[in-house]
Amino acid sequence: VERFEVAGVSEVLVGRGLLDAAVLLSERPGRASVAVLAQPSVAKLGRRLVQEIRRAGVAAEVRILPDGEAAKTMAVVEDVYQWLTSVDFKRGDTVIGVGGGALTDVAGFVAATYLRGVESVYVPTTLLGAVDAAIGGKTAVNLEAKNIVGAFHHPARVVVDADVLDLLPPELRREGSAEAVKAGLIGDPKIVDLYERDGLDADLEEIVRRAMAVKAAIVTRDPTEHGERALLNYGHTVGHAVEMAAGLSHGSAVAVGMVAAGRASSLALGFADEERQRRVIASLGLPVAAPEANAAEVHRLLAMDKKRDAEGLRMVLLAAIGEPQVEHVDSATVEQALGIIGI
Ligand SMILES: NC(=O)c1ccc[n+]([C@@H]2O[C@H](COP(=O)([O-])OP(=O)(O)OC[C@H]3O[C@@H](n4cnc5c(N)ncnc54)[C@H](O)[C@@H]3O)[C@@H](O)[C@H]2O)c1
Repeated sequence: VERFEVAGVSEVLVGRGLLDAAVLLSERPGRASVAVLAQPSVAKLGRRLVQEIRRAGVAAEVRILPDGEAAKTMAVVEDVYQWLTSVDFKRGDTVIGVGGGALTDVAGFVAATYLRGVESVYVPTTLLGAVDAAIGGKTAVNLEAKNIVGAFHHPARVVVDADVLDLLPPELRREGSAEAVKAGLIGDPKIVDLYERDGLDADLEEIVRRAMAVKAAIVTRDPTEHGERALLNYGHTVGHAVEMAAGLSHGSAVAVGMVAAGRASSLALGFADEERQRRVIASLGLPVAAPEANAAEVHRLLAMDKKRDAEGLRMVLLAAIGEPQVEHVDSATVEQALGIIGI
């Protein structure tokens, strides 16, 4: 099992067969009970963890939340607060979130706010949930817009069991692979090599370990999100615009956004691996263009981009794989970057 720390506050464990009480829970004298929140798709796993924890002599209860974004609402949060009160959950107790990024976002928000903050542990069960949502300390629920209410609250532990991820349906493997490839492109060329060699069959234990290490290192160097964390947005400037304009999934949109950023990188910084990056993304079954996106809408969204300032749009570009930097890009470069993705 691989262990590393994030910002001195979260301990990440990645391996196989990890889901027992000793791995999930740190030594904590004041802990009397554990509340497990789980997604419907992994309800069985949530119940199994409760049995494991009880066997270790700690009281535990489980609650299954609505699936996906339906869990990220204030109504669900209030419902969970009421439930925690009813099971006599205390300040020294621990919330465990079991599921994809939507579940860990809401479990984290509950943990950040109930009794002004209690310990949380995440067991991410999707690739995206592991490599992106589980580390960095962002928790959130949605109002009309996504992630509008939230708090920074780092989980004490994140436990990723590759045996669980191995069972993911291909669609979720593909969806999460976009953020994993992104981690490779900005911080670990070996991830790109692994995906290039094995496509979607690449060993998820190694991919997840490496991709989480990339994000963990960046978050540790920039805990308050004032600098280097911006590098995690590689592919996200154009990606967010096509996500909205073409209704693509987040993973697909980031894939297309990285292809555009690759073009801009080649023009602005002489990035030599533009074509290789595009090939790897395509080999995962991710889109490399979004011709269905309305061009005027994409331009409008880019013009509103929060990373735009007086000098124009700022994008994360690559000088080489593993060498990202934030750069202003001129409008001719933006046009060419959009051109390569069919916009
Ligand atoms: N906090 C952060 O920094 C951060 C970063 C990125 C994304 N996010 C959030 O993460 C969410 C997206 O994450 P996601 O893609 O994991 O979404 P998700 O949690 O909605 O999971 C996607 C689907 O996969 C199912 N699922 C979960 N585990 C499974 C398993 N082992 N086998 C089969 N199905 C399984 C879920 O039930 C759900 O239907 C969004 O809400 C996004 O805002 C947060």
